[in-house]
Amino acid sequence: MRTVVFREHGEPADVLSVIETEPTDPLPGEVRVRLTARPINPSDLLWIRGRYGRAARFGPLAPGAPPVAPVGFEAAGVVDKAAPDVRLRPGSRVAVSADGTWREYLNVSVADVIEIPDRLPDDLACQMTVNPMTANLLLDDLGLAAGDVLLQTAATSTVGRMITALARRRGIRCVGLVRRRHHRPTPSDDDAVEVLVDPPERAREQIAVFAGVGGVTAALDAVGGATGRLALDCVRDGGRMTVYGMLSGSDIAVPPDSLVFHGVNLDGFWLPERMRTMTPEEIGELVRTVTDQLTHHHLHAPVAGRHALADVRDAVRRAESRAGTGKILLVG
Ligand SMILES: NC(=O)c1ccc[n+]([C@@H]2O[C@H](COP(=O)([O-])OP(=O)(O)OC[C@H]3O[C@@H](n4cnc5c(N)ncnc54)[C@H](OP(=O)(O)O)[C@@H]3O)[C@@H](O)[C@H]2O)c1
Repeated sequence: MRTVVFREHGEPADVLSVIETEPTDPLPGEVRVRLTARPINPSDLLWIRGRYGRAARFGPLAPGAPPVAPVGFEAAGVVDKAAPDVRLRPGSRVAVSADGTWREYLNVSVADVIEIPDRLPDDLACQMTVNPMTANLLLDDLGLAAGDVLLQTAATSTVGRMITALARRRGIRCVGLVRRRHHRPTPSDDDAVEVLVDPPERAREQIAVFAGVGGVTAALDAVGGATGRLALDCVRDGGRMTVYGMLSGSDIAVPPDSLVFHGVNLDGFWLPERMRTMTPEEIGELVRTVTDQLTHHHLHAPVAGRHALADVRDAVRRAESRAGTGKILLVG
């Protein structure tokens, strides 16, 4: 079977390779899933570059083989073989949350799969365990009320658009900082606007006009650098900014007086750590919520293109240049 790996950290288009490995039988408590679709997420690219929150472990995939690291944190597929102690049967469609999903078959614990309804297509199912969960938890954690103003950076990302959709349903007013405009419909009414990040003075002015006297209640930043700083500067006294991404790769210069004299609360969010704080019941509820939101089109996860696993280098190049029009999926 085809398995995407890398032997050293670096630029994804340079270091990824596709090797042949043998599928193995599932151990007790596991299913073997024939994976059919996986998104290319920014976290995958951070992982390959060696900038993700945990270190990649390089090791041989078979005795005597050279050390490699697997790629991919989520996917959709079909159970191909189940250990005898497992309730899920071959043929069941599942979403998978596990390491190494950029391959054809993966053995995973049943705790890491979600059975999905037939009405949820692979395009959505393969994206359901990272971004929709993140969008829901980020918004819940801010605890905003109707009429509050939420500022987002990278507002045209999949997560950004999901947050905007969820926030608007709660009556939260949304302003998104974007680095360029897209052909996809952008929110433009009294409840949601998009503002170009450049020039920053104009962006600040537009955000202030949109927010009005109450100011920006909270910001969510996935970019860092000058854009993260711009967002921080726009948050009102006593407001909050949560950082959950590092798309620019640059540090945010945090002026101490924002925190000391203006009482702005600055914190971070990482899905795996946040989920570790949740009970199994809370996780089950989140899974039901996300499944419902995706199947009822309250959340969208558009797809900009599909590439075969063998074509992974072109796929990652395209994922970074595709300009906010949707995910690039690895299929087959
Ligand atoms: N902390 C967590 O647990 C967690 C979980 C999920 C996602 N995330 C983060 O959420 C962010 C969005 O993920 P996604 O999957 O929704 O992304 P996505 O759909 O793949 O879209 C990427 C977005 O990033 C924007 N972008 C890329 N480089 C940028 C830069 N240097 N400056 C400004 N914008 C830039 C793109 O803007 P253009 O449209 O202009 O190209 C595009 O809108 C990422 O940072 C990801 O790591 C974090």
